[in-house]
Amino acid sequence: MNSRNLKGKVALISGSSMGIGKAIASALAADGVSIILNGRDEPRLKNTETELRSLGYKVTAVVADIRLPGRCQHLVQQTILRYGRLDILINNAAVSSRGSVAEMADGNYKIMEETNFNGSAHLSKYAIPYLKKTKGHIIFINSIGGFRGMPFNSAYSATKLAQAALAEALRIELFDLGIHVGVAFVGFTENDPEKTILDVDGSWVYLPKRTNIKLAKPQAVAQSIKHMIIRRKNRITLTRLGRFTGFAIRYLPSFSNWLLLVNRKTIKRRFTMIGGKALVSSPWHTKIEYAALDRGKIDSVEMCHPCPKGIGSR
Ligand SMILES: NC(=O)c1ccc[n+]([C@@H]2O[C@H](COP(=O)([O-])OP(=O)(O)OC[C@H]3O[C@@H](n4cnc5c(N)ncnc54)[C@H](OP(=O)(O)O)[C@@H]3O)[C@@H](O)[C@H]2O)c1
Repeated sequence: MNSRNLKGKVALISGSSMGIGKAIASALAADGVSIILNGRDEPRLKNTETELRSLGYKVTAVVADIRLPGRCQHLVQQTILRYGRLDILINNAAVSSRGSVAEMADGNYKIMEETNFNGSAHLSKYAIPYLKKTKGHIIFINSIGGFRGMPFNSAYSATKLAQAALAEALRIELFDLGIHVGVAFVGFTENDPEKTILDVDGSWVYLPKRTNIKLAKPQAVAQSIKHMIIRRKNRITLTRLGRFTGFAIRYLPSFSNWLLLVNRKTIKRRFTMIGGKALVSSPWHTKIEYAALDRGKIDSVEMCHPCPKGIGSR
């Protein structure tokens, strides 16, 4: 398959209103793929839809919080209603956190697990019947943080490790159906100025621009994902640091453990920027409304579209 063969295909990309997801949407749409864009923040999502449409791309925005299984089903149903088929599912939406286990707000684990792991599992489940027909692709946007538990980033790396395990299991399960399952271990990438992450106390904070490390461009990440789809690759690792990390963790586990140990203070200061002054408070609710995620309330949320702000959203 080459770029020309992507023409006419349909891709559903979770979390594509900004950042890497948006860059993947642009890269695929430029090759004639019809795209379902997704996110929770409706104005931002609509802006992205308008921007990509102005470039002549075929895109449709669907607001859905992938933490809710019913919304994942809805997202897949909307894809079929709008375009009649599904060829590519990209499990991209994720949230990130910072901080030590000892200090981490209890609810942070819940939101990370529901978004980074459960969300991609449920979307994959509901997409399988349609991907079976097209012998399509499920791509997981994972991270070099998904190679092993990373200090001061435990919740994120644990959910990414779980997601990688899910992908490996799925690859075997779906082999006879002809569905390709790929995992991309993405390295540090330039973040959208609007990117927010969960701070240790459970508040959302903007992620300051990272200046202490060489960053990949989201557009370059998107091109790698496109090639991964075209060549039906099982796994790719991006950036030089990412490949070094992957190699060391796999083949030199004691050495990589020692490296993390001797650099623990630097990792805490630089990578998590705990106590850094560059944080700006987020316009979102500063605390997650966990009560809204109680089982009973989720059931009522699932029936409405679009998802009301503050319920099942942050
Ligand atoms: N940036 C990096 O350096 C880096 C490195 C390695 C791996 N990655 C991975 O690459 C992917 C994209 O990262 P990014 O930095 O581009 O993220 P980002 O800028 O924070 O964008 C995340 C996207 O996901 C959406 N989203 C978040 N929670 C959602 C939910 N529950 N339901 C639906 N949509 C949701 C966000 O929109 P709303 O907020 O409106 O919902 C947004 O569109 C993630 O899987 C991440 O783990 C990133």
